[in-house]
Amino acid sequence: MTTTTSVICLILIGMMGAGKTTVGRELARRRGTRFADCDHELIARTGVSIPVIFDIEGEAGFRRREARLLDELTAENDIVIATGGGVVLDPANRALLARRGIVIYLDVPSHVLWERTRHDRNRPLLQVDDPRARIVELHCQRDPLYREIADIVIDGERGGSSAMVNQIEKALLGFEKKLPCTP
Ligand code: S3P
Repeated sequence: MTTTTSVICLILIGMMGAGKTTVGRELARRRGTRFADCDHELIARTGVSIPVIFDIEGEAGFRRREARLLDELTAENDIVIATGGGVVLDPANRALLARRGIVIYLDVPSHVLWERTRHDRNRPLLQVDDPRARIVELHCQRDPLYREIADIVIDGERGGSSAMVNQIEKALLGFEKKLPCTP
């Protein structure tokens, strides 16, 4: 059973460096809604950085925290959520996102992702010998998963974050998604 109630939980997905935080913050500001960034929220709640969570609990521990937080944030109304890039790896997360909000994929090519993340030391998955190859590999693996649940795909190749926010606002005009009655 579905309902046609307008969805007001907007969920940004995409790779590390796609601009989810910047775009999400600007989108929320323009819409006058709350903004939440999953990584920032985890840092605030644990009191430590993402690399420290990975060090102590491993990626599996980080993913468990991420999944719990996602469940909590997507239950809110009137919110824009920037997710972590790896959130789509878990099929349960993908199902949750698809039924709780409008999912917006920021589709940015690997070479741009690399330029934006090459000096970053806060993303444990990129602290490897060849981070550039890692980005390409993760992008290949995840792009189909992002597309699987995306209601809207935003072309992030040209233009900055404002251009992406403009694209999102345009795509949202008249957009309505049917959601299950019991999310
Ligand atoms: C991750 C992306 C990061 C963060 C963690 C793992 C990933 O978030 O959640 O380092 O698996 O792609 P951003 O996408 O905000 O960088």
